[in-house]
Amino acid sequence: AGAAGTGLGVAATLGAQFATEVRAQERAEEALPPLQTARVGFFGRRQAGVDTPPPAHASFIACDLNEELKAADIERLLRIITADAAQLTAGRAPVVDQEPELATIPAELTVTVGFGEKIFDLVNPAKKPGWLKPLTAFPQIDQLQEQWSHGDLLLQICSQDPLTLAHAQRMLLKDVRSFVTVRWVQSGFRNAYGSSQQGTTQRNLFGQVDGTINPTSQDETMDQFVWGSHEDLEPWEEGGTSLVIRRIHMNLDTWDQADRPAREDAVGRTLDTGAPLTGESEDDVADLSATTELGFPVIAPYAHIRRATAQNPVEHILRRPYNYDLPVSNASGFSDHGQTSGGVSNSGLIFCSYQADPLKQFVPVQKRLAELDMLNTWTVPIGSAVFALPAGCSESGFIGESLFS
Ligand code: HEM
Repeated sequence: AGAAGTGLGVAATLGAQFATEVRAQERAEEALPPLQTARVGFFGRRQAGVDTPPPAHASFIACDLNEELKAADIERLLRIITADAAQLTAGRAPVVDQEPELATIPAELTVTVGFGEKIFDLVNPAKKPGWLKPLTAFPQIDQLQEQWSHGDLLLQICSQDPLTLAHAQRMLLKDVRSFVTVRWVQSGFRNAYGSSQQGTTQRNLFGQVDGTINPTSQDETMDQFVWGSHEDLEPWEEGGTSLVIRRIHMNLDTWDQADRPAREDAVGRTLDTGAPLTGESEDDVADLSATTELGFPVIAPYAHIRRATAQNPVEHILRRPYNYDLPVSNASGFSDHGQTSGGVSNSGLIFCSYQADPLKQFVPVQKRLAELDMLNTWTVPIGSAVFALPAGCSESGFIGESLFS
C-alpha cells in the first residue's frame, strides 16, 4: 500500500488498470465468434432474419412477378429461392454459381422471403391475410415514391460481410430473373461487426441510440408480438409474421440547425446514453408523468417516445432498422425526395417493423406519430411496403409450401 504515490506505485496502478482493460477487451472479443465460421441456420419453423441479431449489412429487394406466371411457376420460383438460400447461408455455392469462392464465408448471412398480395391471389387467395395491402396514407407526413414502394416478392438479405451479401444477392437474382423483375433495392448498414460490445443498441445517422424499447427473445415479448402468441393476436400462419418497410428520409442538413437540448427534447431521451430525460441510464423506464418545477412535462407532449409508446396491450413492434447514406446526386444537393436543395446529405432509415398484425400493431403507432411527433420536422417517409413473411421450412420443404397444400 505504501507504494501508492511513488513512481513505482503509479506504474503498478496503471499496469493493473491496463491489465483490466485488456481482460475486458479479451472478454468482448471472446464473445464474438470469428466471422469465418459464423453461420445462421436456414431451416426451422420460423425464417431467420427476424429475431436474429441484425448483422452490419442488409439488402431489401422487392420484385414484381412476370405477367404470365401460374401457381406452378410460383412453386418452382420458391423452390429455387429456398435451395439457393439454404446453400448460400451454409457457405456452399449453389450449382450454377460462377464465383463459388465468394460463397464460402456466409458471415451470418440470412435470406428472408416475403410475399405481396399477388402471390396469394395466384396460389391461394383464401390464405391471404386481411392486412396484406398498402397501408392507408398518412397524409400529414407521407411523400411516398413508387420507386421505393410495394412489390410482389421480397428478398431480405443480411450479412456481416458486404461482399458475401453482394454475391448472394446476385446469385438469387440471376436464378429468379426468368420469373420476376426487380422493382427496388434498398441497401442499408449498421455498425461494423466487433466495433461495439455485443448487445449494444445501434445509433442512427441523427446520432441517437435507436432500438432500446423492442421485444426480445429473453422474455416472451418476441413470441407474443412478432410471432403472434399473444391472446389478442394471431399469426397469419404458425411461424409466420409480417414486415412493414418504410423508407424514411432524415434531413441531416436541417438537423444540423437543432442544438443538443432541442434534439433531446424531440425524442425524450438523451443523446449520450439514450437514457429517458427522466432517468439516468438507457434501460431506465421513461416516466411520462414527471413534471418540471414549473409544472411542464419533462418528456414533452410532442416527444417521439411519448407518441410512439404502446397505448394498448398489443401495440408492440420489432424495429430492426438499417441506415442508408447515398451520394448527393448533384451540386445543388438534390436528395431522393428533392427537399434539401443546397444540402449535402441524402440519408435516412430503412425502417423495418416486424409484427404479427400490422393493422393492430404498426398502424396505430404510425398514425399517432403522423399526427404529432417533433421528429417529423426532420423526417419524411418516402417509401412504404407491406409483406407477409411465411413460416420457415424443413430440409425437405420450401418456403411458402403451406400455400400449396
Ligand atoms: C423509439 C428514432 C421512426 C416507433 C425511438 C427512439 C429513437 C427513435 C431515437 C428512442 C430509443 C428507442 O427506444 O429506440 C426514430 C427515427 C425515426 C423513427 C430517427 C425515423 C427516421 C419511427 C416510426 C415508428 C417508430 C416510423 C413506428 C411507426 C418507435 C417506437 C419506439 C421508438 C415504438 C419506442 C417507444 C417507447 O419508448 O415505448 N425511435 N424513430 N419510430 N420509435 Fe422511433
